[in-house]
Amino acid sequence: MKTIAIFGYGQRGAIYASYAVAHPQEFKLVAIIENNQARIMEAKRNCKGVPVFERYEDFLKMRYTVDLVVICTQDAQHREHAVAMMNAGYDLLLEKPIANNPEDCLSIYRTCKRLGRKVLVCHVLRYTPFYSAIKKIIKAGELGDIVSIHASENVGYFHYAHSYVRGPWRRSDESSPMILAKCCHDMDIFCWLLSRKCVSVASYGSLSFYKQENAPKGSAEFCSECALKECPYRAQELYTSPDPVRNQFARYFCARGQSEENILADLRKTQYDRCVFRSDNDVVDHQVTIMEFEKGSTVCHTMTAFSQEIYRDIKIYGTKAELYGHMEHNLIEVRPFGAPSRQVIPELPQNAVGGHCGGDEEMMRSIYRVLCGQEDDSVSYLDVSVESHLMAFAAEQSRLNGGCVQIDDLKN
Ligand SMILES: NC(=O)c1ccc[n+]([C@@H]2O[C@H](COP(=O)([O-])OP(=O)(O)OC[C@H]3O[C@@H](n4cnc5c(N)ncnc54)[C@H](O)[C@@H]3O)[C@@H](O)[C@H]2O)c1
Repeated sequence: MKTIAIFGYGQRGAIYASYAVAHPQEFKLVAIIENNQARIMEAKRNCKGVPVFERYEDFLKMRYTVDLVVICTQDAQHREHAVAMMNAGYDLLLEKPIANNPEDCLSIYRTCKRLGRKVLVCHVLRYTPFYSAIKKIIKAGELGDIVSIHASENVGYFHYAHSYVRGPWRRSDESSPMILAKCCHDMDIFCWLLSRKCVSVASYGSLSFYKQENAPKGSAEFCSECALKECPYRAQELYTSPDPVRNQFARYFCARGQSEENILADLRKTQYDRCVFRSDNDVVDHQVTIMEFEKGSTVCHTMTAFSQEIYRDIKIYGTKAELYGHMEHNLIEVRPFGAPSRQVIPELPQNAVGGHCGGDEEMMRSIYRVLCGQEDDSVSYLDVSVESHLMAFAAEQSRLNGGCVQIDDLKN
């Protein structure tokens, strides 16, 4: 059995904690660090008997022995929290992004190297049965040499409104640029699937729709005061939706029992009640990024807010076959040249903890195996993860300043 402490019992921290609670033969949850009163109550309810510390300094005083501290605080806090934990002697499982700017990423990287700590990064997509199956197909040589990839990340209009217009990732100065917050997973997946490094990046995109000038006539500052009841972004509908994906978003402002009554009462006049056209958001709602990898492989990635559902799809073009995959449909089709196509349906874990099409659950399982000394080529250590972050920073630099950014130039 391995031991963990969770730093930040928010949306992500609660998933990793619940994995430990559900798999006591793998992980013992030794402590939780959380400073929000409602979430402390929730942690105490869900993780009975586990001590909760409001200040991480008090956790450090206890000198617990744990295999990993799982850093699940917000992006802009990762540097302080990761460095403090490494200085105190802990290895880390660090939520992505490593940090929200190149300096903080580098600072975490240097501390990790100086102290010889182990830092694993939560690139959960690698562990999904979907991407694992694609990796297997590539490794078996079915596609031949990969020439190019075309991938899209369809954020979903309601998810975009929650996280990137109203929620914690709406401003790049307070959290991260969209390409880092949302797409560093995809950047990591491209490196992992290609087993090559990215050489240069160019990117275009902007915030085109969710801004004041597009506010419909007659709309109000807050949805709770708005006469336009048919608006698809109406917070009172989104946060009480029976859809489990949408419904979980209410946890950001309502940590008590999530009855419709509680959600509507706690929502009123909060950031999450704001009209999507009258928030203080500045992250892009669409962005396209083109990348050149070693040996001339090319990748084109599109991120868009404008989709009905949340989904990722990918086309991989190899010298022997093309592959099409749709993650949320759990569907892969391999189309060889001169031979019939075949479909692959990856096996999903039953009753998986968390989301990401089984990725959260499979990541924790892989991490347990790695801590037990087994090999697992999905696990992403800091050295590898830094590459995907550099790609995202390069894309943002290109989007803002124009031109093409060489990855090596960011390393100097
Ligand atoms: N791997 C993924 O796919 C994925 C998905 C979503 C979010 N994330 C990342 O995970 C991280 C957490 O995201 P989240 O959605 O869980 O955020 P969240 O805001 O729900 O959780 C953060 C928690 O940390 C607590 N906290 C903040 N400062 C603290 C302090 N000094 N001491 C104790 N507790 C403190 C907050 O009270 C909160 O409960 C972010 O970096 C985010 O970008 C990763």
